[in-house]
Amino acid sequence: MSWDRDTPLFITAAAGTEVALKAELRDLGLSGAKGARGGVRVRGGLEAITRVCYRSRIAVRVLIEIADFPCGDERALDKGVGALPWDRWLTPEHTLAVRATSRASRLDHTGFVAQRTKDAIVDAQRRVCGFRSSVDKKDPDLGVVVRIDRDRATVSLDASGASLHRRGWRLEDGPAPLKETLAAAALRISGWDRERPLVDPLCGAGTLPIEAELWARGVPAQRAERRFGFERWADHDEDAAARAARERASGAARAKEDGPSCRGSDADPQIVEVAAANAERAGSRATFSVADLRDVELEEGAHVIANPPYGERLDATDVWAPLDAAVTRWWSRGHPVSLLLPDDAPRLGPDSEAPLRHALFNGALRCHLVTWGKPTKD
Ligand SMILES: C[S@@+](CC[C@H](N)C(=O)[O-])C[C@H]1O[C@@H](n2cnc3c(N)ncnc32)[C@H](O)[C@@H]1O
Repeated sequence: MSWDRDTPLFITAAAGTEVALKAELRDLGLSGAKGARGGVRVRGGLEAITRVCYRSRIAVRVLIEIADFPCGDERALDKGVGALPWDRWLTPEHTLAVRATSRASRLDHTGFVAQRTKDAIVDAQRRVCGFRSSVDKKDPDLGVVVRIDRDRATVSLDASGASLHRRGWRLEDGPAPLKETLAAAALRISGWDRERPLVDPLCGAGTLPIEAELWARGVPAQRAERRFGFERWADHDEDAAARAARERASGAARAKEDGPSCRGSDADPQIVEVAAANAERAGSRATFSVADLRDVELEEGAHVIANPPYGERLDATDVWAPLDAAVTRWWSRGHPVSLLLPDDAPRLGPDSEAPLRHALFNGALRCHLVTWGKPTKD
């Protein structure tokens, strides 16, 4: 059993990064993607699902939409959920978890919606075979997502399993690491052309240079051995497994040997060691060194990208003055500079140039990716 090419998919991404995800999906050969709030809608089958899970650097989850129905009360929810062919994906040996969201709807208690959906699924299982799945909220075989929006329910299966920002290489990090998916989106939005050298002078655990270097060489975002949600479902038979394996192999084969120089530096020697260890685990050739921001020298044509320390968890008071001076110095020498800044950051950089500003969220924090001197390809 498998998914046909017309299956509706909702691929989630951090708010503000949807356009970057859309562009990435186009590069991955998925056409017709439409941006929505918090993600992108596209149609695709097993190969497309595998490709996005394995190779997208920006996608957070891949949801397969299996039903959509009017849902003004719990009886409509029971009926709509109970009518779905759960035995296709779930035997009583498979574990289950349900997450719910609700917006502008009568069913507005998400805990209740999740519980009721889970009950309707296990009741349907009992009717068919007399047994039911148990719940595993941490690592379920089947993750079900119910979204209720203006009294309409959409039921989806989480094909990715654990969030795709987990690449398996960032085992250690600093006090305010960027999610890998957000770093990848920021790199794309910055306009970096994947050819110029890339420098992060406030690199922390190294997320930006590592993601950049792997992206430039076309290395898949996930490890070859990672199993995604859909690979644990009852319908993932031998034929589906072989097709998914072929799709992965073709993705891995596209990676290039050589790429641009991507490097990071940080004033904290301990975090630099962490970044180097992360790069090694990731199979990235990004390099790292200890340096204060004030002393960073750039190579010809380098694009600078960084997320400075800010927010509640970091004392950022002494970074703005040197950063302001550095941005102006680099920009005046022709280097594009992109910074992920919170909305209450002080004004930085040259007075004469209005930077490009792209709004996005770093977790719950509203930020802008601010770029001075947007690079143009020669
Ligand atoms: C928000 S963290 C960067 C996180 C990083 N993007 C990651 O994903 O792990 C900011 C970093 O700036 C570094 N930093 C602060 N002031 C600095 C300075 N004057 N020169 C160099 N590094 C500095 C801190 O040590 C910290 O690791």
